[in-house]
Amino acid sequence: MKPNVPLFLSLHLASPTLSISLPTNQTSLTWHKCPTSSETNAGLDCAELRVPLDWSNPNDGETITLSMNRWPAKDPAKKIGTLVYNPGGPGISATDSVVDFASGDTYFGEALRGFDLIGLDPRGAGRSTPIKCSPDLWNARPSQFVHTEQDFANLVQYNRDFALSCLNRTGNLVKHIDTPSVARDIDALRIALGEEKINFYGQSYGTQIGESYAELFPRNFRAMVLDGNVDHSLTEIPTVVSEAYGYEVVWNRFVAWCNKTEDCVLRGQDINAQYTKLLDAAFQSPLEVPECEDPDSSCRPSVRLEDITGTVQSTLDSKFVPAGYDQDTPTWRSLAKYLSAAFKGDYSDFAPEIAENETSPLWQMQLVNCLDWEHNAASAADLIHQTQFMFTAAPHTRGTAQAYAVNSMCAGWPFAVPDPPHRLVVEGNVAPVFLLNSLYDPETPFDQAVGLQRQLPGSVLVAVREEGHTSYQYAGEAARLMEAYLVNLTLPEPDTVVDS
Ligand SMILES: *[C@@H]1O[C@H](CO)[C@@H](O)[C@H](O)[C@H]1NC(C)=O
Ligand SMILES: *[C@@H]1O[C@H](CO)[C@@H](O)[C@H](O)[C@H]1NC(C)=O
Ligand SMILES: *[C@@H]1O[C@H](CO)[C@@H](O)[C@H](O)[C@H]1NC(C)=O
Ligand SMILES: *[C@@H]1O[C@H](CO)[C@@H](O)[C@H](O)[C@H]1NC(C)=O
Ligand SMILES: *[C@@H]1O[C@H](CO)[C@@H](O)[C@H](O)[C@H]1NC(C)=O
Repeated sequence: MKPNVPLFLSLHLASPTLSISLPTNQTSLTWHKCPTSSETNAGLDCAELRVPLDWSNPNDGETITLSMNRWPAKDPAKKIGTLVYNPGGPGISATDSVVDFASGDTYFGEALRGFDLIGLDPRGAGRSTPIKCSPDLWNARPSQFVHTEQDFANLVQYNRDFALSCLNRTGNLVKHIDTPSVARDIDALRIALGEEKINFYGQSYGTQIGESYAELFPRNFRAMVLDGNVDHSLTEIPTVVSEAYGYEVVWNRFVAWCNKTEDCVLRGQDINAQYTKLLDAAFQSPLEVPECEDPDSSCRPSVRLEDITGTVQSTLDSKFVPAGYDQDTPTWRSLAKYLSAAFKGDYSDFAPEIAENETSPLWQMQLVNCLDWEHNAASAADLIHQTQFMFTAAPHTRGTAQAYAVNSMCAGWPFAVPDPPHRLVVEGNVAPVFLLNSLYDPETPFDQAVGLQRQLPGSVLVAVREEGHTSYQYAGEAARLMEAYLVNLTLPEPDTVVDS
């Protein structure tokens, strides 16, 4: 049942340079009008790329389609190159993100308009050949927490059933949406574009795609920016610890901020005491949200501990909305409102969204993570140990976030882990990579950026004295440094710390 980790790991380490450019056979792209009017209005064009479904067996005839859009450089005569963008997730549509950039809904600096910006929907996501799973099974998923061996057996059985529903509906693609396969797709894109080298910008999980690209194709990029970094060398427990501490630190800053901020609705209240009560209750038994009982609603009527801690974590991502953005984006102020309502018994802001059909994007993250990370829990005791450990290490947030979700929701996963966590093996002459990371990032804590920087020869890490997940969108000093690097290949001094 467990993937044969040592075998895959040794194969992987032995062969990072064997995989330089496997045949894709598509040597050009046909750019055409995009499917949405928002893309047409923003001046984008679109194309598709066919790639092998299984890069370890590229000539077996099975292929998938990847969709992309392009925001062309402002002045084609002065074009610097192509910048491939990934917003993270796993599973967020890159084509959607490029529409946001091009229509001014999200910050994208004028300095970078010398690039053709390409949003490539990763395999299985967005408009690329989709992953399909059973929405009914997804909506009936058990809690990530177990109390007894029977709970654990049920969880493992459920995980397998869900994975097999995806295999049944999707086919083998569900086993091949691992991150190195996404990196190989990007190199296939580079070949189809006819470019000797590309430029890459990844945020959050997108940094892991960049790492994999640097490892597999160290000579094929001119510049790479990784913003909000995932260290894929961390094994099961260390990744839980790193995320739990990072999240708890930002929570503590949120509580302190709220207590001294005029329009924070929980100002002056003992937030930690009330939050502890709320989480204890949700851990005992699910909290009810009557309005989600309505068959027309798109939420689940029961709220579990992980639904609350997951929403709190993602809402901590944005302390404020940068000027010019959609001001409805949830921020720390919104989080205080969600919590204030929940302290009074209205849990609706934490009710999970339900999957409405078999191409829902809700399970993308899990399906990719189960292929990328170790998940060796073999008994209730294994998970209970992790739970006790997280609750002690991170007493307010309980540390329950994405890393623990992998260990729990991927237990018993029936597909192999093709690229288990390992220290990157990157050739010495790789182009320097520019890393930036907020010092107080609730999802990708700073220590992961430090760990990653040590694995990328010649890379530079800029620390941003901000709270929030990823930094470019704040259009501050870090954004200026990043733009100077992408445009002019100018690197900041080592150990640069900026305030914005
Ligand atoms: C690529 O072309 C070669 C030679 O024509 C062919 O044998 C192979 O099947 C093709 N591969 C794919 C993935 O289409
Ligand atoms: C496979 O999917 C079909 C519908 O596409 C369904 O009828 C069948 O029960 C599924 N089989 C399994 C083993 O999930
Ligand atoms: C916030 O203020 C309340 C009331 O003054 C106090 O009880 C609580 O301890 C404070 N919390 C923090 C984290 O400062
Ligand atoms: C699936 O549901 C989502 C909303 O959850 C919707 O946006 C999408 O269009 C639906 N897809 C299909 C194929 O019906
Ligand atoms: C790139 O260098 C030129 C020449 O020194 C300078 O004018 C320009 O501002 C730089 N671009 C960025 C984005 O820093």
